[in-house]
Amino acid sequence: MAEKPQEIEDLPGVGPSTAEKLREAGYLTIESVATTSPAELAEITEISEATAKKIIKAAREKADLDGFKTGKEIFEQRKDVRKISFRVPELDTLMGGGLETQAITEMYGEFGSGKSQIVHQMAVNVQLPEDDGGLNGSVIYIDTENTFRPERIEQMVNGLEIDGLDAQDFLKNIHIARAHTSDHQMLLVENSRELANELKESDKPFKLFIIDSLTAHFRAEYAGRGTLATRQQKLNRHMHELFKIIDEHNAVALVTNQVMSNPAVFFGDPTKPIGGNIVGHTATFRIYLRKSKGGKRIARLVDSPNLPEGEAPFIVEEAGLKPC
Ligand SMILES: Nc1ncnc2c1ncn2[C@@H]1O[C@H](COP(=O)(O)OP(=O)(O)O)[C@@H](O)[C@H]1O
Ligand SMILES: [Mg+2]
Repeated sequence: MAEKPQEIEDLPGVGPSTAEKLREAGYLTIESVATTSPAELAEITEISEATAKKIIKAAREKADLDGFKTGKEIFEQRKDVRKISFRVPELDTLMGGGLETQAITEMYGEFGSGKSQIVHQMAVNVQLPEDDGGLNGSVIYIDTENTFRPERIEQMVNGLEIDGLDAQDFLKNIHIARAHTSDHQMLLVENSRELANELKESDKPFKLFIIDSLTAHFRAEYAGRGTLATRQQKLNRHMHELFKIIDEHNAVALVTNQVMSNPAVFFGDPTKPIGGNIVGHTATFRIYLRKSKGGKRIARLVDSPNLPEGEAPFIVEEAGLKPC
């Protein structure tokens, strides 16, 4: 068992009321305090900057922050990278074999573009043995819009056309929580650490973290212009927490982000992902989804550290994602 993570109250100078203010501002962990600035902390908690500095210093000592690593160490860690196959050859080719572990993939697109269908399909595929494109793993799934459908999982399992699969077994390995607010969503990610550690010892270790949708609550709650900076800070912290947990477990993170086409924009791409650069800079891979003619859908790889940009077509059927 991993050690119980320390609470922010364990920091010197942080009493119950300061801790409360920190939590309200989205600082839920020692790490999040460790990576903020004294000015920001002082403003939020109404303490002096000198005290804020002391608190941050203590947090940095306690926090589990990565320092420098050698290229060789990173090379060694990346040797463990595995992929979850889409089981649609065009999509696998686009993504260099599938969704990568130790990375966050963000899918963005309009309502109905297929984001939730893809996360359902990957919640199925990850459970398959490696020979069939999976990681023999289980799923932690945060559902913010109440769009998880067990019936779709059942249809997709049957749609794999692999003998001897039982859809009920697949449903057992998907651990779902509804998030009611952005704070609740952040808390769920932090608390999922315990579940992930438990699953590590099981025959289906945690290998896929889904958040569908990553941004809906943030967008709804931080609508005004003045709240934009807070929203971005919180999203940044949220993505950081998510990354830590999937990095520790050599798992995949797959998050969705709804965009709306903006008819007021006459040139350039009329769709813009919510969270803009913050999500974009923290996500390792970004896929833009759009509907095309005749029920066809197009996935476009927009941003990747090691793969060329490109597009792949696919369709969504009752049996799941299929090649065109
Ligand atoms: N059982 C099904 N059979 C075929 N297509 C389906 C089925 N369920 C959903 N779809 C397709 O998926 C679309 C919804 O996509 P979804 O992934 O929910 O969009 P979003 O990007 O908003 O999450 C539907 O409009 C439909 O075209
Ligand atoms: Mg959806």
